[in-house]
Amino acid sequence: MAKKKTAEAKTATVAGKPSAILDTRVIYCGDNLEQLKKLPDNCIDLIYIDPPFNSNRNYEVFWGETKEKRAFDDRHASTHAYIEFMRPRCVELHRVLKETGSFYFHCDWHASHYVKQMLDQIFGENQFQTELIWKRTTAHGDTRGYGHITDSIFFYTFSDSFTWNRQNRPYSDEHIESSYRQVDPETGKRFMLADLTGAGTRNGETGLPWKGIDVTAKNRHWIRPPTELDKMDSKGLIYWPPKGDMPRYKKFLDEDKGMPLDNIWTDIPAIGSQSSERLGYPTQKPLALLDRIIKASSNENDIVLDAFCGCGTALVAAENLNRQWIGIDISPTACRVMAKRMRDVCGMKEDDKLWRIGRGFVVRDLPWSEKKLRELPPFEFENWAVIALGGIPNKAQVGDMGIDGRIYPVSAVPKKQAGELEFMDVWYPIQVKQKDKVGRPDIDNFEAVMMREDRTKGFFVSFDFSSDAMSEIQAFFKKTGKSIIALTVKDILDEQIAYKLA
Ligand SMILES: C[S@@+](CC[C@H](N)C(=O)[O-])C[C@H]1O[C@@H](n2cnc3c(N)ncnc32)[C@H](O)[C@@H]1O
Repeated sequence: MAKKKTAEAKTATVAGKPSAILDTRVIYCGDNLEQLKKLPDNCIDLIYIDPPFNSNRNYEVFWGETKEKRAFDDRHASTHAYIEFMRPRCVELHRVLKETGSFYFHCDWHASHYVKQMLDQIFGENQFQTELIWKRTTAHGDTRGYGHITDSIFFYTFSDSFTWNRQNRPYSDEHIESSYRQVDPETGKRFMLADLTGAGTRNGETGLPWKGIDVTAKNRHWIRPPTELDKMDSKGLIYWPPKGDMPRYKKFLDEDKGMPLDNIWTDIPAIGSQSSERLGYPTQKPLALLDRIIKASSNENDIVLDAFCGCGTALVAAENLNRQWIGIDISPTACRVMAKRMRDVCGMKEDDKLWRIGRGFVVRDLPWSEKKLRELPPFEFENWAVIALGGIPNKAQVGDMGIDGRIYPVSAVPKKQAGELEFMDVWYPIQVKQKDKVGRPDIDNFEAVMMREDRTKGFFVSFDFSSDAMSEIQAFFKKTGKSIIALTVKDILDEQIAYKLA
């Protein structure tokens, strides 16, 4: 059962910082279990997490069908293992939540029932507010049985006094057509005729006669006292039927906030192949989904945390809505993609000096040393190198035909059009080897790739190159005019190319 916290941590505003006790506008790279332990108790207003699910469809950590995915498959071989992986992390997330805070856990049918049970134990059954059902796709015709087209988002709060801003859903066109049938001839505004009275009599002011109409005799009462009805009438808000029937209230469409939002969300499409916000990662969630959650459960300058933040959708939504934010992700690739997104989409600078005076953002704990880069899984290392060069990593790690990524020179990039990248012919292959020393056979293989693809330039990244390898690169240039640029990790780190381009 959830333990009650005695004192909420005080968050005072100091120069450039919304909170005196923790840093915001920070992306932390690392296992969230470790990173969360560094945060104080009761400091976060809103937490959203979208961890890798316990399902084949969503097991990928970041990139879909990859080596990394298989590693994760093995780790969470059963639902039990998945829940045990999540439990200590959710305990930490509960610890850092403010007393007025809210927590959203995004998952799907594979593990949702087990997740709910675990969260009930950590937050307390009574702190469960609702299960949001997000319709993320339409059914596929080829499935036997009922199609799974929804995700579940469990919403818990730390206590009963949580931040809540009512969200509304706009009316459908059909509802507007059928309900708001009248049009004001002067303003052209749509309105509906609503009842001015309610069932049953009242002894107070709303039971008094008004304009000669005795509502009590009709076993009803006015919805407002007569003095307010007079004001409404003088503003033209009362409709008087010609035959002396009961007057009615003109409810204008533009004054109606819409339907209060319920827990079934069918109006937010998943990121499609043509979506303008699409970054190309299979687990990316739509900004509209996060916008809605953040608006409902936080206020401006509140602190939003996403501890599995992927390509940073929650952080972008938080920034756009003037919230403070903290992101955590174990994948350096995800952190760099996120940083690029903050720069490109939010126009924020990744700059320590600016961050200190309350602008810009920083990425912390990235493995920038050679030692740390050696320890990365091969897939992460390849991504690091390709992105550091400003290239696009090859997502198909199996059968990549010797190409780990491609650089499209800026001069060759035509006006951005969906799907066009595949057809651009000016690109340079990147080959990455997480080896101490690349030898001549590695270069021979890459030369074969360059010949096969008919490329004039290619990049080869590793920790070092043997002298044989370097001589072969020169001989290849003399023979074919094609150049291979050999880059060591040290070259990249020294020049801080990665920092600038990522
Ligand atoms: C499903 S994705 C999140 C996608 C995100 N909601 C978005 O819209 O981009 C899950 C993320 O959790 C990260 N992750 C997995 N295990 C983690 C851990 N122990 N600590 C921090 N991040 C982790 C993965 O690297 C991945 O980027």
